[in-house]
Amino acid sequence: MNKDTVYAQPQARVEAFTFDGQVADVFENMINRSVPGYPLMLDMIGLLAEQYAQPNSNCYDLGCSLGASTLKIRQHSPATCHVIGVDNSSAMVERCRTNVARDHSQASIEIREESMQTTEISNASVVVLNYTLQFIKDEQRTSLLKHIASNMLPGGALILAEKIRFVDPQMQQNMTELHHNFKRYHGYSDLEIAQKRAALENVLIPNTESEHLDRLAEAGFSSAQMTLRCLNFAAFLAIK
Ligand SMILES: C[S@@+](CC[C@H](N)C(=O)[O-])C[C@H]1O[C@@H](n2cnc3c(N)ncnc32)[C@H](O)[C@@H]1O
Repeated sequence: MNKDTVYAQPQARVEAFTFDGQVADVFENMINRSVPGYPLMLDMIGLLAEQYAQPNSNCYDLGCSLGASTLKIRQHSPATCHVIGVDNSSAMVERCRTNVARDHSQASIEIREESMQTTEISNASVVVLNYTLQFIKDEQRTSLLKHIASNMLPGGALILAEKIRFVDPQMQQNMTELHHNFKRYHGYSDLEIAQKRAALENVLIPNTESEHLDRLAEAGFSSAQMTLRCLNFAAFLAIK
């Protein structure tokens, strides 16, 4: 696993964060050291795929990056499922296809280099958005979730993991501080933390728990609840 040093040196001007080749090369290390609960979330995706993936249906991983979440779905779905990973970063898709080629689970799989807003979704029993909705413009999130819900089978599951924000300013401050300490604990310097934060400003826009739950109801899911939370990162399970 290549070590993430993307923000280790001082930058005269910190550019907006993108999922380019430099990030894709170190992404596994970056996400494990930056997102509290990420390894557990991958296990939850496997567990939920076992429960909700229906035979002869499609399972989607929207914003699949290097395929970690995609392969969890594939390895825990019936052999008659078709798994579809979607990402609009060519650097991610190229590496994802290489990773997927090493896996020999029975369910068929394809990796699409496409936007999750325009990719075709049909006959879906499981849809995963693992830390990706937060990168979609806030005003486009409801229509994306409506599009997903309307193409899901009854009883299908949407698994949504996100960075969240808090209404209470004190709570927001505490959780932000703890998240930065989580990064320090994993070896990031103050400079790396500050520059990454600046790069993600206006790129990663978190919602509150109630914004998520209200939006999932509006999108057409019959139930939704938070199933996991680790500091300021949370996962929701919504059922069609
Ligand atoms: C934090 S990563 C997701 C991590 C991944 N799901 C995992 O579990 O390892 C976010 C990904 O979403 C992708 N992405 C962002 N906006 C997108 C869009 N509009 N359509 C498709 N993919 C998008 C990025 O290229 C990036 O690979």
